[in-house]
Amino acid sequence: MKIGIGSDHAGCGLKARIVQHLAAAGHQVTDVGTDSPDRSVDYPVYARKVAQSVASGDLELGILVCGTGIGMSIAANKIDGIRAALIHDHVTARMARMHNNANVICMGARLLAAEYAIDLVDQFLSCPFEQRHQRRLDLITDIERGG
Ligand code: RB5
Repeated sequence: MKIGIGSDHAGCGLKARIVQHLAAAGHQVTDVGTDSPDRSVDYPVYARKVAQSVASGDLELGILVCGTGIGMSIAANKIDGIRAALIHDHVTARMARMHNNANVICMGARLLAAEYAIDLVDQFLSCPFEQRHQRRLDLITDIERGG
């Protein structure tokens, strides 16, 4: 898959681990930064880059990491066409795909151990979207279009 990933300073350590894991699994990973935990940066900048690339179709999935994942999910969901899900356990990781067909997943590096977060990414990727939920996703698109 073509996967985009971004983080702020709080998430860049976990981001590096996820990049390594996904590349080893054969995914094409685009890392938009940031790359240093020592320089404080603004998470919306990275959320916007990844979310816009997913919304345009250049990337198939976005992964965003900040301290809690909350700011990244709020910012990414401002982009039309983005369904960003904040995941923190196996249930939310699987449901984000199966029920919501999330095209961006967000995680909190200050809340999750790296191995666990990587497992959550794999859980998400291993699930199919259940088509019976498409009507609800269409209703979300209607909201974006002002309907
Ligand atoms: C940065 O300190 C922190 O606010 C950010 O990583 C994130 O948790 C925001 O939601």
